[in-house]
Order: sequence, then structure tokens, then C-alpha cells
Amino acid sequence: MLEQWYLEELISKPIRDIWKQTDYYLLKLIFNILQETGMDESLRHGTSVDQLIQEKSFDAGVHSSLKWLLDRLAEDDYVSVCGDVYKLTDKPMTYELDEVKAKAVSVAPNSVAAFNMLELMAKNYPDYLAGRKTGVDIMFSVENMEATNEYYSNNLFYNVHNVCGAKVLNFDIESRKSPKILEIGGGFGGGTKQFVKQRLSDGKAMTGFSYIFTDIANKMLRTAKRDLLTLTDDISSFTFTKLDFNKPLEPQGIAPDSLDVIWGVNAVHVAADMRFTLSELLKALKPGGSLIACETVRPIGNRMIQQEFLLNTLHDYWDVKLDPPVRPRYGFMEWTDWITAFKAIGFSKVETVPDMSYLQTQYDNCYCAVIRGTK
Ligand SMILES: C[S@@+](CC[C@H](N)C(=O)[O-])C[C@H]1O[C@@H](n2cnc3c(N)ncnc32)[C@H](O)[C@@H]1O
Repeated sequence: MLEQWYLEELISKPIRDIWKQTDYYLLKLIFNILQETGMDESLRHGTSVDQLIQEKSFDAGVHSSLKWLLDRLAEDDYVSVCGDVYKLTDKPMTYELDEVKAKAVSVAPNSVAAFNMLELMAKNYPDYLAGRKTGVDIMFSVENMEATNEYYSNNLFYNVHNVCGAKVLNFDIESRKSPKILEIGGGFGGGTKQFVKQRLSDGKAMTGFSYIFTDIANKMLRTAKRDLLTLTDDISSFTFTKLDFNKPLEPQGIAPDSLDVIWGVNAVHVAADMRFTLSELLKALKPGGSLIACETVRPIGNRMIQQEFLLNTLHDYWDVKLDPPVRPRYGFMEWTDWITAFKAIGFSKVETVPDMSYLQTQYDNCYCAVIRGTK
């Protein structure tokens, strides 16, 4: 039942129809970055990432991000790869930014935040490559904060995570008495707002549960609270508090065996040491409690997740401990990796809701998964 909802309503027709447009947009933006930085000249003859960094005096720390740009072009045959040498092919770049964006936005106005964010990042990419700006400077500066908020809270493509995670959360707490909920890495509150919106539209009470909204950044706590108040006057069940999931939870006020549900939207993959964080979360749950992680995953037909164009620029994205089987790769994992990770930590009844093994037989770009495990 939830599978049909996912395939028909969540990954809606506009998403299916136009998500490729954002890819075309990105490809053209990458092309523009190559031209603006003069990398296109070297790539015409064939060059490696290391050579490009040396030749253009880029910051050495951009190696993986730059490689990602070239691999993304290679995925669509704009670049050939031989060993570590990348070379532009003859394939012409025919996409026009304004045209692609206008076409998508005319079909789905709420896709504009995705285009705006890609554009913002591309505009700043030469500075990032040169080491003059970090991803944090670009995405979280005062002037760009609203664009980032829009990207995470009001973006056709991203919002499916908030909607899907919140739906599973609302479903999970239905059978629990006065549940105590902890949200981790809540950011600007995109998931929380969905949780509230769904309750309001289903005529459910805003009381009868307690909800601890957390993030590591104080400014996000303030924004989330402000935005929640635009949906409802009654936020008496909510508290907003700083919590670092890279540190032990008990000294931060989260007692062992105290929570019915812990959830997060694209939060757990940010953990520096996923084994540590998942273990801490398991410890904090009551027996029978659920961990609900809504995560972007790598679908079979779209392995290079576009969000990485943004996230690659953030130091935290790379600064994680690889630790198979719990954390086999950087950034986004596959849904099967998550199942393995939850089980390795000791969660039971580990599943994806809806069932990804079925969903991926029906559509090859199921990029959002909710993984649930029980203590
Ligand atoms: C990808 S964002 C997701 C935000 C939000 N859940 C959403 O989907 O819009 C990851 C969030 O994790 C937070 N975060 C990063 N490191 C953290 C840590 N060590 N402890 C808690 N939160 C952290 C960031 O501030 C950010 O808000």
C-alpha cells in the first residue's frame, strides 16, 4: 500500500517528467565551470585531476570534488576516461541554462529552488576550486542562507525526503502511548514541518507526544522554531535544543532507554563515525523503540546523486570514518548498505518502509529510502 503511494504520489509525475532537466542544467553548469577556469583547454588534449590542480594552482583539497565533476561529464559521454586521464569528447553541449530551467519551472514551479541552488554553487565554484571559499561559505553565508533553506524545505525533489520520513514517523507513533520523539540533524526543520503538516491535515492532535528537535547549529534551531510557528500556534510539545550526534548522548541530556522514536532526514549519513553514532542512538531508545532514518540513496539508474555537486564542497562530507560494513563509502549509501549497517549495530526488524526491493523493480530512480530498525 505504501509502495503504491511512493510510486504514484511521492515520486510524482512532475518529478519523473523533469528531474532529468536538473541533470541537463548541471551538465551545462559544469561545462561553464570548465570554461571559466580554463580547464577546458587542458581537457581537450587529455589531462588528470592532479595535473589540473597543479596547472591551475587549485587547492589540493578539491581533488575529490573535481574528479566528481569530470566523472559526471563522463557518465553522459562528454568526457572519456582512460586510467586517470580525462579528455573531452566531440559530443556537443547543446543545453541552454535559461531554457532548461524555464521549461522545468513551467511544469513544476516548486522545482525552482533546486535550479537556484545549483546555479549558486556553480557561480562560486571557481572560488571554491581556488581555495578562496569553502562550501560552508557558499551555502551557509548570511546572504545565501535563505536559498539553502528553500533547497531543503521547499524543493520538489528534496521534499520527498521530508514527506516520506514524516509519514513513516506519524505511522510509527500511532501505536505508541505518549511517545517521546527525538529528531537529530533537523536543520531548517523541513522534516519537522512535514510531520506537523501531515498531523494538521489528518486532524491529529499537536499534543500527546513530546518532540525534541535538535541540530548542532543554533541558528538552525531558531529558524526551525520560527518556521514551525507559521504552521501552528501550539508548539508546546516541542523543545529545541543543540545536540551533537558525534558525541556521547547521555552527557548531552539524552538518557539511555528513554526514547520511543529517533528520526532524522539525511542526518545519519553525516555522522563522522557511523558505528559510534548508530550505537549511541540504539542505546538511547527504549526496548521496542524505532530508529527511522530517511536518507538519499543511490538508485540503480542514477548512481551519481546530483546533491553531491553541493555536498562535495563541504569538509564534513569527506571527513568521515570508513568502516565496512557499517560505512562502506563516503556520502550517500545504497539502501542495502543501510540495512547491513543497522543490523551490524544490533537493530532488529530492520526494513525499508516502503519496501525498496519492490520499488526498484518498478522505477529506477527511487532516490529516497526510509530505513527503520527496532531496539
Ligand atoms: C543534510 S542536512 C539535513 C537537514 C534536515 N534534516 C533536512 O533534511 O533538511 C544535515 C544536518 O545535520 C546537521 N549536523 C551536522 N553535523 C551534526 C552533528 N555532529 N550533530 C548533529 N547535527 C549535525 C547539520 O547542521 C544539518 O542541519
